[in-house]
Amino acid sequence: MTQERKEQLLKAFPHLTKLTALEEYLWINPFKGKETVAKTETLSMEAIVEAEARLARFAPYLSQAFPETKPMNGLVESPLLEIDSFRVQLEDYYKVTVNGRLFLKGDHLLPISGSIKARGGIYEVLTIAEKVLIEERMLSKEESYVKLLEPVYRDVLSRYTIIVGSTGNLGLSIGVMGAKLGFNVIVHMSSDAKAWKKALLRQKGAHVVEHDQDYSLAVEEGRKQAEANVNSFFIDDEHSTTLFLGYAVAALRLKKQLDDKGMTIHNDRPLIVYLPCGVGGGPGGIAYGLHQVFGENVTCYFAEPTHSPCMLVGMMTGLHENIHVNEIGIDNQTIADGLAVGRPSGFVGKVMEPILGGIYTISDETMYKLLAMLIDREEMALEPSAVTALFGPVQIANSAKNAVHLAWGTGGSMVPANQMKVDYEIGKALLL
Ligand SMILES: Cc1ncc(COP(=O)(O)O)c(C=O)c1O
Repeated sequence: MTQERKEQLLKAFPHLTKLTALEEYLWINPFKGKETVAKTETLSMEAIVEAEARLARFAPYLSQAFPETKPMNGLVESPLLEIDSFRVQLEDYYKVTVNGRLFLKGDHLLPISGSIKARGGIYEVLTIAEKVLIEERMLSKEESYVKLLEPVYRDVLSRYTIIVGSTGNLGLSIGVMGAKLGFNVIVHMSSDAKAWKKALLRQKGAHVVEHDQDYSLAVEEGRKQAEANVNSFFIDDEHSTTLFLGYAVAALRLKKQLDDKGMTIHNDRPLIVYLPCGVGGGPGGIAYGLHQVFGENVTCYFAEPTHSPCMLVGMMTGLHENIHVNEIGIDNQTIADGLAVGRPSGFVGKVMEPILGGIYTISDETMYKLLAMLIDREEMALEPSAVTALFGPVQIANSAKNAVHLAWGTGGSMVPANQMKVDYEIGKALLL
């Protein structure tokens, strides 16, 4: 970072000083509803439906390869949980009123890898496996994919390598799914990645490369390695429309879950969704899908740490991937390891411009408090990145009456108990 560049940026975009102060902040997206976005032909409702069909083809295989998916017939899906007791404490503690009911989308309970990243990551690995095996004339879309359990398929896929850069959870999803199918998997991990995530990945058979720099560098190194290896696939967290569509399928599933609970979304019962954002693919894919399914009746907000507001900096300035938070003196150091990203995905930022309601930032201190509150009130444990979603109803005051508020609980069930206990105790102490 040069001082000169910082000064230029702050002069050109005075609003950035709201972020450099590192205080919690709400940005309402002024581009919402405006047709600013460069249309991408690969993104559409049809593409989401096609992704759902691909997941259905793999479901019989997944239900056997991962028995924990059996109750859902091989679908990797999470429950929709009302958190009313937490809502009462949130209202009491922050002196706000949540107009309507508050739900948690329990992606921390997603089978296989316990985070939102299971949606996109697993979907892209399956897409690669299907492509390779169809090209090798070993599979057709019409037959049962259960046969992928046979060793001969693993042997073929073991000739290919999947490479990814990650802060942890994407690597876990790709590592677990890829290794199960027989692929070699190499995960480039940023310095923020937690030690337990690296250890778990190695235990699952993935090769972990550790970097002492941030996520953007880890992705870059992964990309370079893949370019040098013809039999490899690079899963590109910053640009992949395949990952994006895997996340977007969540919207079709959520609609059904809301309908089943008698909570059909319409004009008089809008949906307000709070999504933790790192590089943007996960929350972006889901927000895009929700917008396709619910149209004007849904508003999505992203949550970012005060120390890593990369998507906010990118969207607010319109510079997207051409700005890193370090350039304006923000350090990208946060306990929310999954959100410790300094440079956003420009692809996602541009797709979000006309649809995103806004972005709020949240401090590490607030994350600890929310983590402890959720455990006390609901006996549910989320990791720090995921609890950022729970701050949404506090930040978005005066929301429509009778709204359905939905915090996307993006991860946490795999966090070791001793680590969770440490974070819980910090949160409890802060709440006193
Ligand atoms: C728990 C958790 N929540 C949210 C995110 C954000 O996803 P994305 O980086 O795609 O924005 C991540 C990313 O790793 C994560 O691990």
